[in-house]
Amino acid sequence: MHFLKIATSAALALSTLCGAQSTAGIKSLVQRRIPNHVHDFTFSLTTSPATYAAPNTTGAQNDQYTVSNAANGTIHISGNTPIALASGLRWYLASYVHVDIYWFIGSRLHLAPQNLPLVNGTYHGSSIVPWRYHFNTVTFSYTTAFWTWEDWELELDWLALRGVNLPLAWNGYEKILIDTFAEAGFEEAEISSFLSGPAFQAWNRFGNIQGSWSGSLPMSWVNSQFALQKQIVARMVELGMTPVLPAFTGFVPASIGQHYPNASFVNGSQWSGFPSQYTNDTFLEPFDPLFTTLQESFISKQVNAYGNVTNIYTLDQYNENDPFSGELNYLRNVTSNTISSLKAADPDAVWMLQGWLFYSSATFWTNERIEAYLGGVEDTDMIVLDLFSESQPQWQRTNSYYSKPFIWCQLHGYGSNMGLYGQVENVTINPVEALANATSTMLGLGLTMEGQEGNEIMYDILLDQAWASTPLDTKSYFHDWVRARYHGSATSPEGLYSAWDIMRSTVYNNTDITLGNAVTKSIFELSPNATGLLNRTGHHPTTIRYDSGVLVKAWNHLYDAAAQEPSLWDNPAYTFDFTDVTRQVLANAFYPLYTTFVAAANSSVNSTYSPTTAAGTGQQMLALLEDLDAVLAASGHPEHFSLAYWIAQARAWASDSGSLVNDSSVMQTADFYEYNARNQVSLWGPTGQISDYASKQWSGLISSYYVPRWTMFVDYTLNTTTAMNGANAPLSGSLLAFEEAWQTEIWGENVKETYAMPVPGELQSVVARVVSTWPAVFGTA
Ligand SMILES: *[C@@H]1O[C@H](CO)[C@@H](O)[C@H](O)[C@H]1NC(C)=O
Ligand SMILES: *[C@@H]1O[C@H](CO)[C@@H](O)[C@H](O)[C@H]1NC(C)=O
Ligand SMILES: *[C@@H]1O[C@H](CO)[C@@H](O)[C@H](O)[C@H]1NC(C)=O
Ligand SMILES: *[C@@H]1O[C@H](CO)[C@@H](O)[C@H](O)[C@H]1NC(C)=O
Ligand SMILES: *[C@@H]1O[C@H](CO)[C@@H](O)[C@H](O)[C@H]1NC(C)=O
Ligand SMILES: *[C@@H]1O[C@H](CO)[C@@H](O)[C@H](O)[C@H]1NC(C)=O
Ligand SMILES: *[C@@H]1O[C@H](CO)[C@@H](O)[C@H](O)[C@H]1NC(C)=O
Ligand SMILES: *[C@@H]1O[C@H](CO)[C@@H](O)[C@H](O)[C@H]1NC(C)=O
Ligand SMILES: *[C@@H]1O[C@H](CO)[C@@H](O)[C@H](O)[C@H]1NC(C)=O
Ligand SMILES: *[C@@H]1O[C@H](CO)[C@@H](O)[C@H](O)[C@H]1NC(C)=O
Ligand SMILES: *[C@@H]1O[C@H](CO)[C@@H](O)[C@H](O)[C@H]1NC(C)=O
Ligand SMILES: *[C@@H]1O[C@H](CO)[C@@H](O)[C@H](O)[C@H]1NC(C)=O
Repeated sequence: MHFLKIATSAALALSTLCGAQSTAGIKSLVQRRIPNHVHDFTFSLTTSPATYAAPNTTGAQNDQYTVSNAANGTIHISGNTPIALASGLRWYLASYVHVDIYWFIGSRLHLAPQNLPLVNGTYHGSSIVPWRYHFNTVTFSYTTAFWTWEDWELELDWLALRGVNLPLAWNGYEKILIDTFAEAGFEEAEISSFLSGPAFQAWNRFGNIQGSWSGSLPMSWVNSQFALQKQIVARMVELGMTPVLPAFTGFVPASIGQHYPNASFVNGSQWSGFPSQYTNDTFLEPFDPLFTTLQESFISKQVNAYGNVTNIYTLDQYNENDPFSGELNYLRNVTSNTISSLKAADPDAVWMLQGWLFYSSATFWTNERIEAYLGGVEDTDMIVLDLFSESQPQWQRTNSYYSKPFIWCQLHGYGSNMGLYGQVENVTINPVEALANATSTMLGLGLTMEGQEGNEIMYDILLDQAWASTPLDTKSYFHDWVRARYHGSATSPEGLYSAWDIMRSTVYNNTDITLGNAVTKSIFELSPNATGLLNRTGHHPTTIRYDSGVLVKAWNHLYDAAAQEPSLWDNPAYTFDFTDVTRQVLANAFYPLYTTFVAAANSSVNSTYSPTTAAGTGQQMLALLEDLDAVLAASGHPEHFSLAYWIAQARAWASDSGSLVNDSSVMQTADFYEYNARNQVSLWGPTGQISDYASKQWSGLISSYYVPRWTMFVDYTLNTTTAMNGANAPLSGSLLAFEEAWQTEIWGENVKETYAMPVPGELQSVVARVVSTWPAVFGTA
């Protein structure tokens, strides 16, 4: 991690702020991604640096660009902001050259031909909202917890090209917070006992949890995340984005009373079944003068570190954590004092609030209380993220948040679960309708996914909708997306288009949110049980809402396409998508096996109890999971389909070189990071407080965690006639014992050797074997 050695000074960040109003950022992006075309593009800003101002909540302006052929043969892109230029560049590259940049797969922009096509005239693009936002506070734990600078560079270029000008930037928060607490007189041990582990920082930042189980957060982590944040913020600014930075929220170490006997503080609620040692966070009341003191200390340290680069601050005090009192005066008092503290630190401060609380805790948050709470802040001093607009919009019931500006956001999925899923109608039609109804308050469109779990087309379409005043035509959108996606193969067989068109109107067109309103979780990711796994609704629905046969048809189109155009097997976009669809077909095939097993083994409800059927089906369930693991392992995309990759990324943060095997202190830290990485995707909490919330369909996780659990279930069921009648306490006990033991297993330093990097032909041959094993599943019988 070479960035540890780069000391980005505040002065450098400040000088890049000035560069933000220049074309330097977009030119560097071109240099990074299409270096052989640096002379083929010219960029100009229509607004001179002197008059350019980032949009604020009062003077909101849309971004605009034009793309044309310059007389000297270059493609000329002009725009009113640096992000408008990036958006114009992407429009040209995606719709004229058919190349793009993707999560997981990386940039495919280098596939642009030597001679770039001219444009047919002058193309004008305009955003329909001034802000395009990205990230949820928890994305920083579910997706980016262990990211390197290289991962961040790809993400930031992806965001810039897709027109995002307002990204959240949480890394390094703990460094500023620790310094703030230290200055206020807290001892290192008190601060340390407040902070959570590297995979759980988001919920500590929210005040849901405190402390860390199985080890405490090392200062080396804090420092290297801080160094990374300096790079991230500087790059955001260079690209022309306005970073949303953290602020002091009010959550403090529990020992505050020892240092400030007169301080007014309250203890928060218990979160998600966590023992009070790890929750019940102490909250300093914003009306206490100490709150403003700490806020000023925090913000000034942050400005020193990153420069004066933003006036927008993310700040959530009641996320899944109700206020101490529901009195209207109290609620108004909290917000009015919180914004005063921000203004004391930065007179132009704008408070960004994740609006999740009003939905998740709707019983507490009556309209009267929301109005009082938001009423403590001037309309121009706040932006609310309407966090789950495609399914549970709150802006209507709150009268546009009682006239606060808001951003319409697609949340899409929880815990970075990996099912194919989308609400393609809701994310194209609804935001356009919302804008017509809330013209003066809806200032943005954004993405607030808990994790960047795949389904990239659903994220692309929402960000592209931000540049179209009528709902996008999904048929042509999917067609154009596919054309760019598989660029690089000699031909694009029709099957590629057919497959995605089928998925567009089925997998990606959920219209009944009562059966589930987000990415599906497959039942095999849940702790085995004879009841309660099927038909789950809500945030982790287990119901497959399309005819699973239509996905098999789409799969066959994709498979046939590669038979027709074998070079697709060397196309990373194809191998990624093909793996993903194969994954879903196999996951769906688990359902009928499970249903048959339970029915066949359940003597109490099924008079045709059949031990033979049960034993055979049980074996098939396990074999199917092993085959799924094998396909994912052969994908060539460990960054998205492999537990070993996730663990290797976590362990790598423990040392500079990743190979200090003999240094026991480094090994301990690496083991702690591995524990964090494992725990988040399995038990999630010291003893399974929200077990399987962030489950994944990963090679390695299936074989080492899900298969053993299902083996225990199958064996127990077959050997215990009472198993299905509720007398399964012994099974739940042994499942938990297994799950807990798995947490502390150590992959060790050789983890990097265990995830396969692309081996030509491997995916193709593994799939051929799996297809011949399961002809009925793949419709090839
Ligand atoms: C907001 O933007 C408008 C238009 O650019 C400008 O006139 C106004 O001064 C800005 N307000 C603040 C608080 O920066
Ligand atoms: C090409 O033309 C564009 C637009 O007129 C101009 O901005 C740019 O500087 C020119 N580039 C060269 C190399 O002449
Ligand atoms: C440009 O014009 C040509 C000829 O009219 C047409 O075939 C092509 O589709 C156009 N390209 C775009 C991207 O509009
Ligand atoms: C929460 O913490 C406070 C002190 O930090 C303690 O007095 C209180 O009993 C705790 N609440 C619970 C439910 O443990
Ligand atoms: C907020 O509440 C505190 C404590 O009751 C009180 O002292 C203060 O005056 C209130 N502030 C406002 C602005 O209402
Ligand atoms: C940042 O700079 C602006 C304009 O120079 C100034 O108004 C503002 O107070 C500064 N903010 C901070 C936090 O220093
Ligand atoms: C989402 O779209 C479906 C129809 O496609 C509609 O029934 C539903 O009401 C929409 N949801 C919201 C929140 O608008
Ligand atoms: C917009 O307002 C109209 C008229 O009040 C209403 O019928 C419609 O449902 C609203 N649409 C949305 C998305 O709120
Ligand atoms: C999605 O489903 C709805 C309801 O069945 C239908 O009206 C709509 O046309 C579908 N949209 C697509 C893109 O298939
Ligand atoms: C799940 O839903 C399906 C379809 O509605 C139904 O046939 C089945 O009985 C349900 N299963 C359980 C376990 O509730
Ligand atoms: C009973 O089990 C058999 C398999 O042994 C299965 O075919 C049948 O559907 C089951 N019946 C019920 C009511 O679950
Ligand atoms: C299955 O679920 C039921 C109901 O939630 C629960 O009581 C039982 O302990 C679970 N069985 C196992 C093996 O975990």
